[in-house]
Amino acid sequence: MSPDPNPAPSSASASVVYGTPSPELVEAGADALQTSPLVPGSTALEALAPESLERAVMAAPPGTLERRYVQALALRALKPGGELIVLAPKDRGGARLRSELTGFGCEVEETGRRHQRICRVLRPDTLQGIEAATGAGGPQRLAGLDLWTQPGVFSWDRPDPGTQLLIQHLPSFSGVGADLGCGLGQIARAVLASPAVTEMTLVDIDRRAIDAAARNVPDPRARLVWGDGRVTPELSGLDFVVMNPPFHDAGVESRGLGVAFVTRAAALLRKGGVLWLVANRHLPYEDSLTRLFTRVAPAREASGFKVYEARK
Ligand SMILES: C[S@@+](CC[C@H](N)C(=O)[O-])C[C@H]1O[C@@H](n2cnc3c(N)ncnc32)[C@H](O)[C@@H]1O
Repeated sequence: MSPDPNPAPSSASASVVYGTPSPELVEAGADALQTSPLVPGSTALEALAPESLERAVMAAPPGTLERRYVQALALRALKPGGELIVLAPKDRGGARLRSELTGFGCEVEETGRRHQRICRVLRPDTLQGIEAATGAGGPQRLAGLDLWTQPGVFSWDRPDPGTQLLIQHLPSFSGVGADLGCGLGQIARAVLASPAVTEMTLVDIDRRAIDAAARNVPDPRARLVWGDGRVTPELSGLDFVVMNPPFHDAGVESRGLGVAFVTRAAALLRKGGVLWLVANRHLPYEDSLTRLFTRVAPAREASGFKVYEARK
């Protein structure tokens, strides 16, 4: 299971930060507790007691439901009169911050710097619309998807075509394996359909994904790890690794991240172990695959995605 988030702040550290706002734009404070679900071990905003915080500083995420959700949770956790500073690039949600905060019943001071909108509010005595925002942005089971999910998680409200392609072409595995960057757990569900799989570790850096995967993969052979797939210890000599590796780091396309996942998979596998991977066709993983594995076979290509089988 995912580690429990760190305890909610004591009165001595009643200040939190969400994400990594640029210190040139706003000072979060050295003792502010990190609350982003993308930082393993951080405190969950959901775990903060209502009206317990003096201050919150938030680099708001780009998705509307996710952004409204975290602002609502931060406002709920602030004491009346406590300060909330929220910032986001103008074209990635920043232009909507003022109206969102006004909708929660706040009076907003807004400034702009370096293409970011920066909004400051003092938490009013009475808030409005908090439950609607926390309901819409919280964990939910989507009927069309038939999975537990949450806004902000990769492909949270629609099946990813790359994931689907990989699932359609997976062989029946046996032994011990891992899914690096497991998301909601769809690939693991398909792998665990084989009774010959004895253990599978699902790793993701996003706590919301791990929490959803825990519900979507209720299998005693599944082990869930909230952590960085590039460094997660304790695994070695695996029979198989499956993955749809991340290609964004902090919202920016990152080829290095996917290559690091391929490198990590090669290190985790035993000799003769196998990696099954899906990626956008334009992403350049072939060089790393052929360098690190003895046999690489493109298994299928469709709709802009490529599935590879690579044997160590
Ligand atoms: C392309 S998505 C694939 C998700 C899922 N396997 C699927 O196919 O739907 C990549 C996943 O990797 C996760 N991720 C990104 N960076 C990571 C890292 N450094 N360590 C572990 N997981 C990471 C993301 O949160 C995301 O869930």
